[in-house]
Amino acid sequence: MKRILTYGTFDLLHYGHINLLRRARALGDYLVVALSTDEFNRSKGKECYFSYEERKQLLEAIRYVDLVIPERSWEQKADDVREYHIDTVVMGSDWEGSPRFEYLRDLCEVVYLPRTPEISTSQIKSDLGMATS
Ligand code: CTP
Repeated sequence: MKRILTYGTFDLLHYGHINLLRRARALGDYLVVALSTDEFNRSKGKECYFSYEERKQLLEAIRYVDLVIPERSWEQKADDVREYHIDTVVMGSDWEGSPRFEYLRDLCEVVYLPRTPEISTSQIKSDLGMATS
């Protein structure tokens, strides 16, 4: 049983997210998504359209997602990898080489997948004339 973990906010769920989740799940047998809480996002100056509970429900309805856990801080990742017996942490290529993930190589595999071009939550918000923070 190969266990995969990914992190993100997944606000205004879009096909770039679905592509990422499908490819992440295909790398193993069980996909855990650590979903940024509203408090954690606010600490980064980011305000979501959907609440944590709404974003969690959407993710739980996706067939590639086996478990959703809260991401409450930058520092929890090593604990998550140990607690959920993770083999591989997967992120989109916007995080390629980031020290926020690279140190996890001591504990598990770290894989960056190419982002789906031309779609993002920020882009949707900007197209709809919403605040993009
Ligand atoms: N992602 C992706 N392709 C996209 C958009 C996102 O592969 N077109 C991936 C990100 O790389 C990340 C995950 O989906 O691993 C969650 O990304 P998130 O930041 O929640 O979504 P974005 O659409 O990038 O949101 P924002 O515009 O607010 O950064």
